[in-house]
Amino acid sequence: MERKIRLVYFSQATRDMNLSDLKDILTAARENNREKDICGMLCYDNRYFVQALEGERGVVNDLFFHIADDPRHTDVVIASYEYIENTTFTNWNMGYASSTPVFVELLAKLKQTTFEPAKLTPKQTYALLRHLSAHQDDI
Ligand SMILES: Cc1cc2nc3c(=O)[nH]c(=O)nc-3n(C[C@H](O)[C@H](O)[C@H](O)COP(=O)(O)O)c2cc1C
Repeated sequence: MERKIRLVYFSQATRDMNLSDLKDILTAARENNREKDICGMLCYDNRYFVQALEGERGVVNDLFFHIADDPRHTDVVIASYEYIENTTFTNWNMGYASSTPVFVELLAKLKQTTFEPAKLTPKQTYALLRHLSAHQDDI
């Protein structure tokens, strides 16, 4: 079995995403990721996506390039890529959070009033997703 990795990236939505757009992404993601034994967390705010993908290296790599090709977003930047012993988003084939009060609070701690993932360190980006995984939107 190949080693596991965690890939975290951020990207810019090519247009404003409404609830139905996000539901479309999550429905496909959850179905595919379950089959591929991938778990992770997606966050959307201020027209930015941030996503963590965890699973076997080759499977995550292939999925990442597939996702990066999706016309619903652009300017895809890898924030971090690392080997992991255990997955940390294990309970979610793809968890989801958006601009809830908890999110705003977390951003304030990171000295941000509007979400700008490019200004976060890789560590902060991962920590944000970890915190948000405990405060998800139910969609
Ligand atoms: C921000 C974003 C995140 C996505 N995350 C996933 C994901 O985790 N897993 C997945 O299978 N598809 C994800 N997708 C959707 C894929 O890009 C693609 O539409 C989907 O896998 C269906 O591909 P297919 O039409 O080739 O079957 C994501 C799309 C976007 C825009």
